[in-house]
Amino acid sequence: MTVTASPASRAAEILSRPVALNGLTVPNRIAMAPMTRMFSPGGVAGEDVRSYYARRAAAGVGLIVTEGTYVGHESAGQSDRVPRFHGEEQLAGWAKVAEAVHAEGGTIVPQLWHIGMVRKQGQAPYPEAPAVGPSGIRTDGTEGTGKAMTQRDLDDVIGAFAEAAAAAERIGFDGVELHGAHGYLLDQFLWAGTNRRTDAYGGDPVARTKFAAEIVAAVRAAVSPEFPVIFRYSQWKQDAYDARLAETPEELEAILSPLAAAGVDVFHASTRRYWIPEFEGSDLNLAGWTKKLTGRPTITVGSVGLDGDFIGAFMGEGSPVKGIDELLDRLERDEFDMVAVGRALLQDPEWAAKVLAGRFDELKPYDAAAVKTLS
Ligand SMILES: Cc1cc2nc3c(=O)[nH]c(=O)nc-3n(C[C@H](O)[C@H](O)[C@H](O)COP(=O)(O)O)c2cc1C
Repeated sequence: MTVTASPASRAAEILSRPVALNGLTVPNRIAMAPMTRMFSPGGVAGEDVRSYYARRAAAGVGLIVTEGTYVGHESAGQSDRVPRFHGEEQLAGWAKVAEAVHAEGGTIVPQLWHIGMVRKQGQAPYPEAPAVGPSGIRTDGTEGTGKAMTQRDLDDVIGAFAEAAAAAERIGFDGVELHGAHGYLLDQFLWAGTNRRTDAYGGDPVARTKFAAEIVAAVRAAVSPEFPVIFRYSQWKQDAYDARLAETPEELEAILSPLAAAGVDVFHASTRRYWIPEFEGSDLNLAGWTKKLTGRPTITVGSVGLDGDFIGAFMGEGSPVKGIDELLDRLERDEFDMVAVGRALLQDPEWAAKVLAGRFDELKPYDAAAVKTLS
């Protein structure tokens, strides 16, 4: 007789399996997706930010990827309320966050961020600094007031990422994630729409990947060999959901191989809906293709658990949102290794504990108001 596990026990069993990310063992398969919150005046993560992350670690999130945090380059960001990953006070604030998460049994990596041409001039923390990018072009195709990066600029930014990664290890984080997604600086290099360079950093997909790969190599050299380096990337851009880096698996491989060779341990493939097949002729999503092409562990993401009725499929956001069985099937098939959860974890700090214990009936439906608070 075949015994079919209930969704609750199946979820608990599959999601509770530990997973190794280079030298780090994460206690389960649930990650918190990086989410900019803007609750860090002066770029310092304070007590409220610390308890916000610690609450989620205490409730079973295996790996926390922090909100994007600026590397130490004058053009990296544009808000004084986004935490910075440089400066004595800022790093001291982050060290306490890592400590608090560890005290609750969780693991945590900072998401290191440079926004590139998204930056508007005249904004904090360095109002005089220009927006910089591969070719001075924004993701919407306009030129704006930014400048194309010189070799000196490239070297400075590479150094800033390496320094931030070294600081992350020094102050007690478990790894780093490099933000290469959503139309920010690294993605501006990867994407032909914003990279029109005619030097070694522009041209075919491998050339467009050169800058990100140099950052990865510098980060790798700045940290211990077992310290996990995660690279987050996406096809979509913040203001262009249909944009694509790669139209075929071959193009995707041309981008991912140099990154893996440079030292990426884990890829975090950012999609808006995790069940959408990435290329024709296969069910694999972007994380699935990434794992298949690179052999590295991958993290998937996108609309996981955005409703109380997570067990079944239902209609939401104008398209059918898949229930937990779809997710568990893909995990069982080793399509990807971890699942990152964003908005559902803003809505409910206890989300992971409830799912891991099969308490699906206690899940709260998502309400966009959750983004406004740090509860
Ligand atoms: C409020 C908010 C802030 C976000 N900030 C970031 C960020 O700093 N870095 C990043 O890579 N993605 C960011 N994202 C995208 C999320 O990491 C995630 O990929 C997205 O929300 C889809 O996951 P979900 O459907 O589980 O929410 C943000 C999303 C939200 C809702």
